[in-house]
Amino acid sequence: MSILIRGGTLVTASETFKSDILLEGEKIARIGLDLEPGSAQVIDASERLILPGGVDPHVHLDLPMFDTVSSDDHYSGHKAAAFGGTTTAMDFVPMASALSRESETSAVEAPGIFQHSVDLWMKKAEKAAIDYSFHMNLTRFDETIAKEIPSLMKMGIQTLKVFTAYNGRLRLDDGSIFRALRIARENGMLMMAHCENGDVIEALVADALAAGHSEPKYHALTRPAWGAVEATLRMAAMAGQADSPVYIVHMNAGGEVDMLQYARQRGVKVMGETCPQYLFFTEDDLSRPDGARWICSPPVRTEADNARLWEGLSSGVLQTIGTDHCPFFSDGSRPIVYEGSEVAIPGKELGKHDFTKIPNGLPGIQDRMPVLWTKGVNSGKITPNQFVAYMSTNPARIFGLYPRKGALLEASDADIVIWDAGKKVKYGLAHSHQRTDYNLYEGWELTGYPEKVFLRGSLIVDGEQWLGKRGAGQFLKRSEGELL
Ligand code: URP
Ligand code: ZN
Ligand code: ZN
Repeated sequence: MSILIRGGTLVTASETFKSDILLEGEKIARIGLDLEPGSAQVIDASERLILPGGVDPHVHLDLPMFDTVSSDDHYSGHKAAAFGGTTTAMDFVPMASALSRESETSAVEAPGIFQHSVDLWMKKAEKAAIDYSFHMNLTRFDETIAKEIPSLMKMGIQTLKVFTAYNGRLRLDDGSIFRALRIARENGMLMMAHCENGDVIEALVADALAAGHSEPKYHALTRPAWGAVEATLRMAAMAGQADSPVYIVHMNAGGEVDMLQYARQRGVKVMGETCPQYLFFTEDDLSRPDGARWICSPPVRTEADNARLWEGLSSGVLQTIGTDHCPFFSDGSRPIVYEGSEVAIPGKELGKHDFTKIPNGLPGIQDRMPVLWTKGVNSGKITPNQFVAYMSTNPARIFGLYPRKGALLEASDADIVIWDAGKKVKYGLAHSHQRTDYNLYEGWELTGYPEKVFLRGSLIVDGEQWLGKRGAGQFLKRSEGELL
């Protein structure tokens, strides 16, 4: 099946130019002016932009948390992603417990802890509707685990995520992080880091609970920006000492951008990602009656932080925009209708009387590109080429998917978005396919929206119509990425 998209304006991370683009099977076959259609189906895109499909480097689908699970799985989350122009998503594999490995496999043939964890996640992802790959959480560390880390590369997973917070749950001590950084470097892998100060958070949470504070705003007050700033510099300093690259996830505080800049100017191979919620919202949102909807970790900060993060994008100190999509219902006791059936999944109401029990995370996988086009490109904060770089090309390059993904090049996967830069949408739940009962951008007036989305040459979104399929997404084995 061939498709000729005719007369559009192609926008890449570095150029904007008029061209036809011919898709053959799953690939981009030709890019050039006045291409002959032959037997290809022709789509007129003369008033449209052509972008490479979005690559979201940071999502959490079907993730167990507290007494519930993030409410989008690998089908519903992927479907929502596609409606927003994203055709590749990377989510995080939790390390399975040793207990689960022993109970689910025979002791003699037990696979390594990473293989077992990835096998469990592969099962969940069988329903994938866009292409996907995994990052591996590194939340325990000993000699056996250290020896197993290189096996991840054979599975096509070149990234590990470590946490300097979530004491007693996900956090690793600095010595283990340093050792893991060296192993990552020796094996061409990239460490990703969640940067907050777990010890300070633990003390502040204990104080807040002892004082009887239960409201959502205490989530932000007990996770101060200083901890994120200090942990970002600490992580960059450890990476510098290990001579290893590191990628700071979900950067939220202005001071983190300063630390990133400081370390990069001194030759440390450190890269940074921010997320839309940190560009638009503040801790004041947590004091609304429905403040739990804005709870994520790290928390949203202040207007000054929003502004410094925008500067980090305008000036190119930051490299990517991910979503950290980890949705929960606002009120999981009330079902919503999803694809014709009622669905209710426990959500933010679990922490009605205790902010520490509110599931951490918020929706955004569909919102990322439309919202950032209006608020970033239309407002002049970033150029259309920077938009493509942050949304697609840079994540593909950093995470070893380029030029298969993130590119408008001959022989790249035909993941294409026909973008209507003039389309006006009053955004919100009515447009959202994210499987939850609220949208953070309810009522926002957007200009610029995906019109058609192709995954490897197949039209999966046509306006408001879903043409994608459960199980059509492919697992992407990744190789060593680039340092940007
Ligand atoms: O609140 C969030 N972001 N939940 C997901 C876990 C994480 O640390 O990224
Ligand atoms: Zn994190
Ligand atoms: Zn996350």
